Amino acid sequence: MRLQLCTWPEVAAYLKKSTGIIMPIGSTEQHGPTGFIGTDALCPELIADGIAKKIDVLVAPTISIGMAQHHLGFPGSVTLRPSTLIAVVCDVVKSLTCHGFDRFFFINGHGGNIPTLNAAFSEIYAETSFRDGGGNRAGVRCMLKNWWILPSVLEIDAKEFGDAEGRHATPGEVSLTYFGYPKDAKRVARKKLTPKRAPDGPIYDADDYRRRFPDGRIASDPTLASGKIGRRLHKAAVDELTDAYQAFLKEK
Ligand code: NI
Repeated sequence: MRLQLCTWPEVAAYLKKSTGIIMPIGSTEQHGPTGFIGTDALCPELIADGIAKKIDVLVAPTISIGMAQHHLGFPGSVTLRPSTLIAVVCDVVKSLTCHGFDRFFFINGHGGNIPTLNAAFSEIYAETSFRDGGGNRAGVRCMLKNWWILPSVLEIDAKEFGDAEGRHATPGEVSLTYFGYPKDAKRVARKKLTPKRAPDGPIYDADDYRRRFPDGRIASDPTLASGKIGRRLHKAAVDELTDAYQAFLKEK
């Protein structure tokens, strides 16, 4: 169930049964000429909703803006600097710990968020360790799962896309969003991009990124994306992460 669709008495009742919550987090950034700008937020959100259909779990509002400074050369991309994202994650977690949540299961959709998220978790733990009276409860734990590198997801990607999966605006993530939003997919999907597979290379600032990767993709061919494959990726991620979430709650 989405936290946003609950009443506060429902949240209070949930907390008597469980102190765990799923935290979808992503980014709002260009995903090449055929991928939605919201891809990295939409994917974890779709997966979190899938988990909530299988088991009784609350899903927090998606943190849909992440650390994406390198995409600012493309219209529509929005970023938080790392220090802002750390503050956002810490404040959201701390807010929920005030009510008794203490197991935060982050489903992340954006590689650029990983270092910042780990830094945010360290900030949260440091506050507990320092016991500064900041409202954080002892025993708070954060788990980070990056959906696109789950073993079951990688297996499908390797079989369907091979090297064309690439690194950004990948056919895997684009497939998952095409599965979730088929009408919009019809509008944006294309059969051909030039070059077929985008160039690869390092990531620096936004100007450099736009120069190296003119249409936004890195090493990928998202014309291979399909809602059909997206459905399989969704099921694989939902199944694997449902198990991982339940194991996280049981952790000693
Ligand atoms: Ni992405």
